[in-house]
Amino acid sequence: MIKDTENRMKISPANALRGSLVLPGDKSISHRAAMLASIANGTSRVENFLTAEDCLSTLACMQQLGVEARRTGTTVEIAGAGKHGLRVSSEPLDCGNSGTTARLITGLLAGQNFQTTLIGDESLSKRPMNRVTRPLKALGAEIDTTDGKLPVNVAGSALNAAEVRLEVASAQVKSCILLAGLYADGKTTVIEPVETRDHTERMLKWLGADVSVEIRENARFISVDGASELTARDIQVPADISSAAFLLVAAACLKGSELVLPNVGLNPTRKGVLSVLERCGVKVQVKNEREASGEPVGDLVIEGGTGKQELSLLAGPLIPNIIDEIPILAVFGTQLPYGIEIRNASELRVKETDRIAAVVGNLRRMKIDVDEFDDGFRVHPGRPEGAEIESFGDHRIAMAFAVAGLFAGGDTTINGHEACEISFPSFFDALGSVVT
Ligand code: S3P
Repeated sequence: MIKDTENRMKISPANALRGSLVLPGDKSISHRAAMLASIANGTSRVENFLTAEDCLSTLACMQQLGVEARRTGTTVEIAGAGKHGLRVSSEPLDCGNSGTTARLITGLLAGQNFQTTLIGDESLSKRPMNRVTRPLKALGAEIDTTDGKLPVNVAGSALNAAEVRLEVASAQVKSCILLAGLYADGKTTVIEPVETRDHTERMLKWLGADVSVEIRENARFISVDGASELTARDIQVPADISSAAFLLVAAACLKGSELVLPNVGLNPTRKGVLSVLERCGVKVQVKNEREASGEPVGDLVIEGGTGKQELSLLAGPLIPNIIDEIPILAVFGTQLPYGIEIRNASELRVKETDRIAAVVGNLRRMKIDVDEFDDGFRVHPGRPEGAEIESFGDHRIAMAFAVAGLFAGGDTTINGHEACEISFPSFFDALGSVVT
């Protein structure tokens, strides 16, 4: 991998991926650790915090709200201010590129006794915020958006408990309501018809909040008691399975690969990508399964080469589980005998960029035949040709197509490769260290 004079990343075809890689911390868990430790009583030590732009945005927001956080490498010591210890910020909080920061922090701020303005970068300012502000109003929150988007003004007011049924299968929306519920008068319940990542529920429990989860009427009922107090506790963040996915697919597509990825988060609401790979005949072993701070983790060992294929359609309730892995699974699909089809994934249209358009456009640049649908795409099998790829400033698009470049015919350049700073700053070095 070489940077050319215009600072684009050039990827040349590789033989295999071999070795062991310790991957950076989970993005979703790091965000929650920064927010929840900030409102706990006492000091928490967060280990393997993801020091990438998105999670640093969350940490900076919490510091602006008066929380003392000291970072040494990937360890962050957070002196919790207690539930009612956050302080008004004289400046707007800048959520940068991070949807998780903007959505979750809106919930956290809804029940404070001060007003806050939230802003974000160009991409985040185009993404919907009304998906959180609408349900928050059921709790009595007073929030103004700008045409349903950022900048958002959160007045901070007394909240009443409420029962909220999710209209979008979104962990960000669920988490936002649960965080606001910590400040409501009584028990707030989120009804989730389609399961989404449950890191917030797990971490709230880890820190001692009164949280319960019931499964009935084909839905999950997640309740939090507004009288809950959080108690500081150390949090070990596992490696991010969404970052691992890029290396897993790269190894799967290059015969002769053997890659070890230690300490990866294996939360059942996140590990759908592993079952997809396994169903396509990829050998992935999970070793040393254990729990860390209320989250399941394990070591992954993957062998290169795909075998039989039992699937070509990914749709339905699996989609929220693999939502961040869809760009790399699209790239994987080019190597499967019947390709891959993704449906019910219109959420991809409102990610960091329109990921359906970005995946389809870039695969076509690599001369892969793709059909585009409103809610997904069908990727036909074929060997990608080296091409000039556009990341559209989206970290997962940059990384997915860098992987495609490893088994393409000819060289591939990635314009805007630096977008990987959002979730996996060392991505290109990590990849370079295991490529043979
Ligand atoms: C996230 C949830 C998902 C995911 C995002 C992180 C989270 O978004 O795409 O990268 O940490 O809760 P949605 O909840 O909007 O689907």
